[in-house]
Amino acid sequence: MLELREVKVSYGAVEAVRGVSLIAKPGTTTAILGANGAGKSSLLRTISGVAPLKGGSIFLNNQDVSKIPAEKRARLGLAHAMEGRRLFRQLTVEENLRLAWSFGTQKTPQPAAIEDIYARFPILKEKSAVQAGYLSGGQQQMVILSCATIRDPSFLLLDEPSLGLAPIIVTQIYEFITSYARRSGATVIIAEQMANLALRVSDRGYVLRRGKFVLEGESRKLLADGVANSLSASYL
Ligand SMILES: Nc1ncnc2c1ncn2[C@@H]1O[C@H](COP(=O)(O)OP(=O)(O)OP(=O)(O)O)[C@@H](O)[C@H]1O
Ligand SMILES: [Mg+2]
Repeated sequence: MLELREVKVSYGAVEAVRGVSLIAKPGTTTAILGANGAGKSSLLRTISGVAPLKGGSIFLNNQDVSKIPAEKRARLGLAHAMEGRRLFRQLTVEENLRLAWSFGTQKTPQPAAIEDIYARFPILKEKSAVQAGYLSGGQQQMVILSCATIRDPSFLLLDEPSLGLAPIIVTQIYEFITSYARRSGATVIIAEQMANLALRVSDRGYVLRRGKFVLEGESRKLLADGVANSLSASYL
């Protein structure tokens, strides 16, 4: 379980996150929705420990990790797929996957874990010996997601997995995320501007506006209420 209590993030005078609280349970997916600059990335970054926590506290399975460095949170089972396609560009697809696996729980033997990824993203098998830096944006996003999930995390943070991708690729990426969330039992948090997309795959949704949650609820209900459509007008 992931719990945030009145979490705050600041960059000098800029207050990016101004006191947000949430509880996310294992086996559920939570969508954090918001426009450019709403504070989505800052929130995910402070959960993983990459951005300093200015106030409030963060708990992973009831353990207060607020003062614990990022690498230690990673060892507690937290994986963060950041915005901007972070991967090892000089390493091949397969080398990226092997490296990511080596940082994980290693519950599934490496060859089986890699074959599982290739079965879900066949294009990655075709490109297994290609340096990741030469892949298309969509293929790089597949590698990033694969690297995050092959570690078998208990907490998976995904920052705008659909960003800049063609609709067909977005569909594949989201199918992968949905399938992973269902079978893994992990606590999954997705930050997205594409509200409809994220609400369709999540259990609960939170709308972040200028660093505060302005709306929250069951994703199904938020969708039914047409929140995604009204977001651009009133909340984003
Ligand atoms: N390293 C930084 N230094 C100073 N200000 C920052 C930094 N990172 C983010 N900010 C500011 O904090 C606020 C929230 O930014 P953040 O990147 O968290 O938003 P976001 O919701 O992820 O937006 P986007 O959808 O564009 O990725 C913005 O006003 C942004 O300019
Ligand atoms: Mg962002």
